[in-house]
Amino acid sequence: MSALRVSVDDFQEDARRTLPRAVYDYYCSGADEQRTLADNVEAFNRWYLIPRVLRDVTAVDLSVSLLGRRVSMPLCVAATAMQRMAHPDGETATARACKAAGTAMMLSSWATSTIEEVMSAAGDAPLWLQLYIYKDRDLTLSLVRRAEKAGYKAIFVTVDTPYLGKRRADVRNRFKLPPHLSMSNFSSDTLAFSEGNYGNDSGLAVYVAKAIDPSICWRDISWLQRNTQLPVIVKGVLNGEDAVLAVKHGVSGILVSNHGARQLDGVPATLDVLEEVVQAVQGRCEVFLDGGVRRGTDVLKALALGASAVLVGRPVLWGLACQGQDGVFEVLNLLKEELRLAMALSGCRSVSEVSRSLVRRKSLSSRM
Ligand SMILES: Cc1cc2nc3c(=O)[nH]c(=O)nc-3n(C[C@H](O)[C@H](O)[C@H](O)COP(=O)(O)O)c2cc1C
Repeated sequence: MSALRVSVDDFQEDARRTLPRAVYDYYCSGADEQRTLADNVEAFNRWYLIPRVLRDVTAVDLSVSLLGRRVSMPLCVAATAMQRMAHPDGETATARACKAAGTAMMLSSWATSTIEEVMSAAGDAPLWLQLYIYKDRDLTLSLVRRAEKAGYKAIFVTVDTPYLGKRRADVRNRFKLPPHLSMSNFSSDTLAFSEGNYGNDSGLAVYVAKAIDPSICWRDISWLQRNTQLPVIVKGVLNGEDAVLAVKHGVSGILVSNHGARQLDGVPATLDVLEEVVQAVQGRCEVFLDGGVRRGTDVLKALALGASAVLVGRPVLWGLACQGQDGVFEVLNLLKEELRLAMALSGCRSVSEVSRSLVRRKSLSSRM
């Protein structure tokens, strides 16, 4: 009998055993020495939960409204590229799992399934498109148009990737897509990352240097907003100053993210800058967080520090690698049930009852 998986870490361990080495490395890696990668997870341990008691927690409602849509819980799926390396059904399996779990999915620009295929699989689950701004602006807008036409509900524009961070394992592995796969939303082989000589480097780093626009500025956020009716959320803000600028530019949301620690190593864990961003925003747009969320208690701590919701990247890939759609559903459901239990044990019957007083930062001495 196979061992029951009772935590996200169990899924990761099984995925590690299942996936080809270069694929696991691509999914798992952070930038450089991976200090931020470890810190994203560790940051959640720097906070205590301070529960309230005697509050009748027979029923706990996890549902929330995000960007105007009701979802079953304040936990959604972050964009992760090239999911068909984990399972033949890739992003369509993830979308079906999100539908079953009643939550939202962000699709990567670099998906190995098309925008339209994923919409067919998602049914009534809200879909958001993660957008990279390409040097070719017509190409960039064509992705937006396809998302609008298919019924996506928001555009998360990634602002932390003018160049790809240095992920050492990907350089060592000269990472590229296996020959039977491509970035499905692009028609030319070069843009679909399906052929090319990338030399002694991560193929993806070479791709980004060729195709993605490193010159983007705040005016490009305004350009995007002028060109779509969909809500625009900036993905990759890590401080109050940029959060204020984002609000000034009228964004619908900010995703506090360090790209799963895959871009600039040495930046703070996302949880450590969440409150600064929330305070700068003062309720003027929604604030999301991703990075290192692995347990229900992590979600609860992020909510207490002001996030509207969190997103998970790697945990979904581990579920996908273990068991396709069912594996992703199990991961989402595991986190949902962990959150439900954590809320009940903290005396919170709904997400609106999760307040700042639920968390207290540990003193330095208690962390030794
Ligand atoms: C394998 C992998 C691929 C990713 N691909 C993208 C992408 O295409 N676009 C993007 O904006 N972020 C991408 N991200 C970052 C995620 O959207 C998210 O910020 C991060 O995974 C959250 O951290 P977590 O993996 O610790 O949950 C990727 C992350 C991983 C791990």
